[in-house]
Amino acid sequence: MASIIFFLLLALSFTASAQRQTNITLGSSLTPITNSSWLSPSGLYAFGFFRQRNGYSIGVFLSGISLKTVVWAARRDDAPVPSNATLLFTSDGRLVLTSAQGGDTLIVSASQPASLASMSDSGNFVLYNSDREIIWQSFDHPTDTLLPTQQLKAGAELFSPVSETDLSTGIYRLKMQNDGNLVQYPVNTPDTAPYSYFSSFTDGKGDNVTLNLDPDGHLYLLNSTGFNIKNITAREYPTKETINMMKLDADGIFRLYSQNLTRNGNRSDVWSSTSNKCDPKGSCGLNGYCVMKDKEAECTCLPGFEFVSQGNWTSGCERDFDAESCKDKNGSSTYTMEELSNTEWEDASYSVLSSTTKDNCKQACLEDCNCEAALFTDGQYCRKQRLPLRFGRRKLGSTNLAVVKVGRPISIMDRKDSKEPITEKKNLGTGRTILIISCSFVAFGLAMVPICGIIIYRYHVLAYKKVPSNDSTGLNEEFAPRAFTYAELENVTGGFKEEIGRGSFGTVYKGIISSNQKVVAVKRLEKVLAEGEREFQNEMKVIGKTHHRNLVRLLGYCHDGHHRLLVYEYMSNGSLADILFSLEKRPCFPERLEIARNIARGIVYLHEECETQIIHCDIKPQNILIDESRCPKVSDFGLAKLLKSDQTKTFTGIRGTRGYVAPEWHRNMPVTVKADVYSFGVMLLEITCCRKNVDWSLPEDEAVLEQWVYQCFQDGDMDKLVGEEVAEKKQLDRMVKVGIWCTLDEPSLRPSMKKVLLMLEGTVEIPIPPSPTSFITAI
Ligand SMILES: *[C@@H]1O[C@H](CO)[C@@H](O)[C@H](O)[C@H]1NC(C)=O
Ligand SMILES: *[C@@H]1O[C@H](CO)[C@@H](O)[C@H](O)[C@H]1NC(C)=O
Ligand SMILES: *[C@@H]1O[C@H](CO)[C@@H](O)[C@H](O)[C@H]1NC(C)=O
Ligand SMILES: *[C@@H]1O[C@H](CO)[C@@H](O)[C@H](O)[C@H]1NC(C)=O
Ligand SMILES: *[C@@H]1O[C@H](CO)[C@@H](O)[C@H](O)[C@H]1NC(C)=O
Ligand SMILES: *[C@@H]1O[C@H](CO)[C@@H](O)[C@H](O)[C@H]1NC(C)=O
Ligand SMILES: *[C@@H]1O[C@H](CO)[C@@H](O)[C@H](O)[C@H]1NC(C)=O
Ligand SMILES: *[C@@H]1O[C@H](CO)[C@@H](O)[C@H](O)[C@H]1NC(C)=O
Ligand SMILES: *[C@@H]1O[C@H](CO)[C@@H](O)[C@H](O)[C@H]1NC(C)=O
Ligand SMILES: *[C@@H]1O[C@H](CO)[C@@H](O)[C@H](O)[C@H]1NC(C)=O
Repeated sequence: MASIIFFLLLALSFTASAQRQTNITLGSSLTPITNSSWLSPSGLYAFGFFRQRNGYSIGVFLSGISLKTVVWAARRDDAPVPSNATLLFTSDGRLVLTSAQGGDTLIVSASQPASLASMSDSGNFVLYNSDREIIWQSFDHPTDTLLPTQQLKAGAELFSPVSETDLSTGIYRLKMQNDGNLVQYPVNTPDTAPYSYFSSFTDGKGDNVTLNLDPDGHLYLLNSTGFNIKNITAREYPTKETINMMKLDADGIFRLYSQNLTRNGNRSDVWSSTSNKCDPKGSCGLNGYCVMKDKEAECTCLPGFEFVSQGNWTSGCERDFDAESCKDKNGSSTYTMEELSNTEWEDASYSVLSSTTKDNCKQACLEDCNCEAALFTDGQYCRKQRLPLRFGRRKLGSTNLAVVKVGRPISIMDRKDSKEPITEKKNLGTGRTILIISCSFVAFGLAMVPICGIIIYRYHVLAYKKVPSNDSTGLNEEFAPRAFTYAELENVTGGFKEEIGRGSFGTVYKGIISSNQKVVAVKRLEKVLAEGEREFQNEMKVIGKTHHRNLVRLLGYCHDGHHRLLVYEYMSNGSLADILFSLEKRPCFPERLEIARNIARGIVYLHEECETQIIHCDIKPQNILIDESRCPKVSDFGLAKLLKSDQTKTFTGIRGTRGYVAPEWHRNMPVTVKADVYSFGVMLLEITCCRKNVDWSLPEDEAVLEQWVYQCFQDGDMDKLVGEEVAEKKQLDRMVKVGIWCTLDEPSLRPSMKKVLLMLEGTVEIPIPPSPTSFITAI
């Protein structure tokens, strides 16, 4: 439909005709295909359905021309409706869109019922009450366009569309501020100078300043007594057979368009707010910056970064190397600094050094693992930034110097030297599974590690001997767990009679060791690689040597024929999931913090303190067990490597979210201890809020916990998360911040578990976490 129709050759005497209006009475209706709009008397403007994307939307447009001449859109962010929708001006005076999917939508919300509507030749769509007073008009609710005689009033804004074909709200705004200044900003920024990219410089010119457009294209500001305080466009443009309108375009520039109304007449922009297409801030997405080339804007990634999606500038850029750690073991940085002159971005500095030099600034950033880039301004300030960097652009004449950290390629040798003490013992022959490859990727090529292991081992053995064990298991206290025969365990469990749980690895039975009446949990591993006895034995030794009050103790194992069983101490209070997600057992807030700290202690031990580093790979509330004194203990660690390949499916997240699984799992990146930090972070948020990380029974904005937490954190409304007033505000704040840090996409930005513990204990300051760049990514 909407073929290019005519334009009446209106010899418009504009002012006279603009008064004319078509009256629309109660009970009238429109459909997208037939009777799709109400025309103004001259047929110039229409109110009704227009084609957009895969359906129809409602608005005011120049009758019969393309999408470009939609001058006002109703509910622009709603999805277009199918062709069987109906717009009804109801008998009780409301404009209602009835979509066949059911559900009526109010198109405009007026303060009282209307008794008449009208479409005028000025392009204004108006609702009147029974006293013929205007109760609503489209001129008071502009979207992205200003028509002749229309005013942008103090406090009002225009918002750019997403693109020429998608009129929903885009990323720029033009605001007529209450202080008299006309200013442009990116959306979702405060109305402050650092974010603006256009200003009329008329602040302080009094209240109620308006932006006005005359039919001849004259655009100017009037103060409340009607004085012209600023001309924005100076020239007068032809009005014969044309309409001049102002529009804020998708690229953030506002332009004056001259629309030729004759048949086949074209539209041309006769004036624009800037000729520099890099002026609007944010056109290049995160970590990119805008450069002018031949009068066109071009987006470039920061050095060392590449586009998230090639050819799509708004997708932004990400680091093109695996930033595992920022310093090597010698404490020297694994980065170098690169300079970008005349480049600037949002100054979200977390630290500013003054009276410094360029070289000192570079060095300061290099030595600070939080610093990803720095702006050196005014010849003396060093402003350190974290990722992501927003609103990047090259600005000629700017004296700013940007320095960005660039990683040097990390070789295998460097990896060994890297900060994380990686002491995996062996190169598994079973590297077929993604899980195993990932989990032990870091271990490859680490031939020297066993030697280190022995040295550390000695040290630890001595250390252990000095500390008397308070954990009396009644079994022998050697480091190696005891080997059982299958028959013995059959006996212990009474023939595997009492099942107490099922996990990713198999079924768990309760049992009693008759010699000392010790209650134990016997786990029958069902999905374990059948291979290598030695491997299994080795793994048992590794697990058996772990000894920490926040880890479930392995007491013994059985490797008998094809049977693989593990004997653990028995935990009488079930799992963390049982107490977190049930109303009755729900821990009070101080207890939640204590639980979180204890779990963190257990994981710190696995990562940094035990003889062989163990990456858990499956941290979740179901794998945290609770003993009789409600102390949490991490279980199932060290088993990830024994899983069969098809078990990697266990780690798939839930519907559109990642669950507990760190994003690098899905990117085939090496999985390090930072994957555990991620899972811990998700769980920490669950502990804080006592709810599951995804719960679709909640309102949409609360359903995904990470998203909701960040929202509440930004709004400073954290009590909402706990659902009650908590006295321990600082602790709550700490837990939330740590949770956000841990669940960042970029592994290198996540703190180590040791740091996490320090932060939870309150011994170190927690910096304000950066905004998570994406909450949901494809799995
Ligand atoms: C439309 O309504 C207005 C206000 O009631 C009235 O002045 C005008 O004459 C009407 N126009 C037409 C064409 O009926
Ligand atoms: C369009 O509306 C007019 C008046 O509202 C009505 O007379 C006509 O039948 C309608 N046409 C169609 C195809 O519905
Ligand atoms: C309206 O159209 C939509 C999609 O085009 C279709 O799913 C729906 O069944 C239609 N409804 C009616 C009442 O025809
Ligand atoms: C409007 O501007 C004129 C001329 O600059 C000035 O005299 C007048 O006081 C201003 N009015 C207000 C309300 O500021
Ligand atoms: C500005 O407009 C508001 C609302 O119309 C009015 O209350 C206020 O008095 C006006 N201020 C001036 C200085 O005219
Ligand atoms: C704006 O331009 C008009 C002529 O178009 C002129 O009379 C007026 O003084 C100008 N106003 C300002 C503030 O420059
Ligand atoms: C409008 O377009 C027509 C046909 O292309 C042309 O003849 C006419 O001069 C144009 N008018 C203006 C004001 O540009
Ligand atoms: C459209 O308008 C511009 C500017 O007036 C003019 O240069 C161009 O030739 C016009 N195009 C057509 C097809 O008339
Ligand atoms: C470009 O990327 C943005 C953000 O990632 C996305 O919303 C948009 O759909 C992409 N556009 C195209 C054409 O792929
Ligand atoms: C660390 O320091 C040692 C001795 O100073 C040196 O041999 C080694 O190359 C350094 N490693 C790195 C990665 O710089």
